[in-house]
Parts: sequence; structure tokens; C-alpha cells
Amino acid sequence: MSPEMLVSRTEKFSKVCGILERFGHKPTMLIPILQAVQEEYRYLPEEVLNFIAATLDLPPARVFGAATFYAHFALKPKGRYVIRVCDGTACHVKDSEPILNKLRTVLGLGKGQQTTEDMEFTLETVSCLGACGLAPVVVVNEEVHSLMTPEKTEDLVRGLRERKEGMAA
Ligand code: FES
Repeated sequence: MSPEMLVSRTEKFSKVCGILERFGHKPTMLIPILQAVQEEYRYLPEEVLNFIAATLDLPPARVFGAATFYAHFALKPKGRYVIRVCDGTACHVKDSEPILNKLRTVLGLGKGQQTTEDMEFTLETVSCLGACGLAPVVVVNEEVHSLMTPEKTEDLVRGLRERKEGMAA
């Protein structure tokens, strides 16, 4: 790679460079590095994974392998709000499915679509979140919402949309 190309890539990934620096460019710190990169980008872009592999002198397959092994890592961009509906046993028997269906409708998600076109919302299901006494549970980013109903879920989305409009005003 020419020095010019290296410089432009380095500029483009200056935040990634900062993260790599923070972890001492140590290949053994790959997982924390990927976590920090995901916090920055909200997912792990392919070109960033290749950049990390080249910088740490690791085979790209190793970096991609780590990124795909852990469910926590996302290889596709997610929305600003990631809504997770718990579909563990306790939540399921307390009607998590109508909540999920309501969310799909309210967010206008088509079949197989997880993220809204405007990149505001991503809808996912998760297995038990460890809060079964509060079932059914919905988590928005790190915020836990307990004893949910389809109606409460609709209000929740409305609140998040208003929050966004409030920020834009
Ligand atoms: S099953 Fe939903 S929190 Fe345990």
C-alpha cells in the first residue's frame, strides 16, 4: 500500500486509530477493541474490520471470526434506538408476541426487515433478559421497560419519536 493511501485510510479511521492506541495495538485485546469500535459506530463496518486486521497484523479471518462469533457484535448498521423484545419463556407466556407484532406495525417494518429506513429504530428479539419477575420486558438500548403491553409499547415508541423531534427543534 502506498504511503498516500495509508495516510488517507488513517485519517478516515482516526477514531479507530485512537481505540487501537488505547489498547496498545495488542492483538490479545481484539475483543475489547471490537467492543469499543462498535460503541463508536454502533456496528462493525467491514472496512474497519479489515483495517483492524491490517493494523494488528492479524489474518482478516481471525477478526471477522471474532466479530461473527459473539451475538453482541453487529455487522450491519443498527438504528439509533435498538428495541429488544424478550421472548424468553416467562415473557412469552405473558404475551410478548403481541408486543412484537405491535412494534412491527408501529415501526412500519416489512417482513424480514429489522431496521427502519430512517435508521432510527432496530427491532430484535432476545432470550431471557434475567428479569422474568417483570415480564414481559422490552429494552431500549440499555433502558429496561417492565410489565409491557402492546399499548404501552406504542406509547414508548411515540415518546422516543417525540424525544427525537425535541432534539431536532
Ligand atoms: S423471560 Fe423475559 S426476562 Fe426472563
